[in-house]
Amino acid sequence: MTDRWAAELAFATDLARRAGALLTESYERLERIDYKSKRDVVTNADYAFEHLVIDAIKARFPGDAILAEESGEHAGVLRDDGSYNGRTWVIDPLDGTVNYANGIPYYCVSIGLVEDGRPSVGVIFDPARDDLYAATADGPATLNGAAVRSSTKEVLSDYVVSLAVIGRGGLTRERRIAPLIRIHRRMGSAALSLAYVANGRFDAFIQNGGLSPWDVAAAGLIAERGGAVVTNVRGGPWWDAALTGPRANVVAAPAAQHAAMLQLLASLKTTLQTRR
Ligand code: IPD
Ligand code: CA
Ligand code: CA
Repeated sequence: MTDRWAAELAFATDLARRAGALLTESYERLERIDYKSKRDVVTNADYAFEHLVIDAIKARFPGDAILAEESGEHAGVLRDDGSYNGRTWVIDPLDGTVNYANGIPYYCVSIGLVEDGRPSVGVIFDPARDDLYAATADGPATLNGAAVRSSTKEVLSDYVVSLAVIGRGGLTRERRIAPLIRIHRRMGSAALSLAYVANGRFDAFIQNGGLSPWDVAAAGLIAERGGAVVTNVRGGPWWDAALTGPRANVVAAPAAQHAAMLQLLASLKTTLQTRR
């Protein structure tokens, strides 16, 4: 382990906690503000949290670009010679909006740093549990500062899987996977569920589409550094710097069962959404 991204990790950790504290302050008060346009109110809150995060990044790392869910791309300040430093913060200040709006305490702040096309720092903060998952590309995954590892279960039939098969017939297809594992869950915050793979709270994570870069940048790295194999549904790279729109898909599982997971998906013989 080196400390190449130590400063960025410390910064992202502090920022995620600050954004999380704001989320906690507004938690369960949003619906009382306006019952009729619950979604809009939450969206306004999303913007407010996002601005906090963006302003902090711009102040600390002005040369870095930012990709954020609500406000899109923000270019970094270029170097004197006009070149870009190759770094982009990819953030979702509130993943699990629907849960949050309904008072279900399963949501998180997601802050990732992608350097030269590779996720390099990831922080996921769950304010409801005060749980902070983190990783850098050169270090272990941690939960509240202690190193964690992904599931060591030996058989698929013991697996508790975060499973979201989206698209036509998704639920039917999920039911076809269900008998092969212990249970599947769809929790409503993909980033938090994917981070859970790092310490085996979920043995595996599958979502076959509908994911955006800010849903997976931090959590995918955390799951990977926790020891899981993380790919797209075809077994290719899970991170694609060129990907735009909600088209990403992820399969994360311990090495012992990752190939089985991919086979399971392939055997459904469905029109699974793929990255391209
Ligand atoms: C969504 C959640 C959800 C996942 C969707 C995401 P949001 O993010 O992570 O679990 O299934 O693909 O868009 O809207 O709550 O930030
Ligand atoms: Ca999200
Ligand atoms: Ca969001």
